[in-house]
Amino acid sequence: MTAGPTREAIDPVRYISNHSSGKMGYAIAKAAQELGAQVTLISGPVSLTTPHNVNRIDVVSAAQMHQQTLSIASQHDIFIACAAVADYRPVAVESEKIKKHDQQMQITLIKNPDIISQIAALKQRPIVVGFAAETQQIVEHGRDKLQRKNLDILFANNATETFNSDDIQVTALTKHSEQEIGPANKASVARTMLQMIATYTAD
Ligand code: PMT
Repeated sequence: MTAGPTREAIDPVRYISNHSSGKMGYAIAKAAQELGAQVTLISGPVSLTTPHNVNRIDVVSAAQMHQQTLSIASQHDIFIACAAVADYRPVAVESEKIKKHDQQMQITLIKNPDIISQIAALKQRPIVVGFAAETQQIVEHGRDKLQRKNLDILFANNATETFNSDDIQVTALTKHSEQEIGPANKASVARTMLQMIATYTAD
């Protein structure tokens, strides 16, 4: 599984990122390990303790998360993408700190690889579980991502309420179902999510 944010370097001292704390992903990793799963946690930069007996691989950028995830995905039964992966990165990373000159400046961005879509497209694919962090039309956008990315399950949630919070409310979506989970603390929601994943059969 993936968790946390990614950081996309602009120059040696600056980056583009988001407010993900990693709390949700780490709660799932901990709950899965407690249920007896062997968990590999590919983590962006967070200040959380690694759950007991979880194999954690640290990455910084989306490109690193992509490379690490793709290299081991087919050895796993389930892939859960909880990370808030930066959709774009700067085309060029300046080797020296950018100096302040003009009133305005532009940074050209290029799309990052979509990790979960690539895993869902593998011939021997695990069960693929995604998240959608939205600020409006949460269920509609979530259902669109479920279909477009060819996922088995998607947990749609309100980005502004969930980032860095200890609690979460999600709408769990499959092709033919919709179920509210929470609001409750992330540890308890993680356990409900895993029960749902464990009993999932493609419909
Ligand atoms: O970390 P917390 O502070 O606890 O907050 C939890 C959370 C808000 C980060 C989490 O609940 C959540 O919603 N994670 C997904 C955030 C996100 O980036 O959603 P998205 O709608 O941009 O992406 C959709 C899905 O595609 C996600 O499963 C994402 O991991 C995946 N993705 C996105 C882009 C990309 N390049 N590769 C991906 O795999």
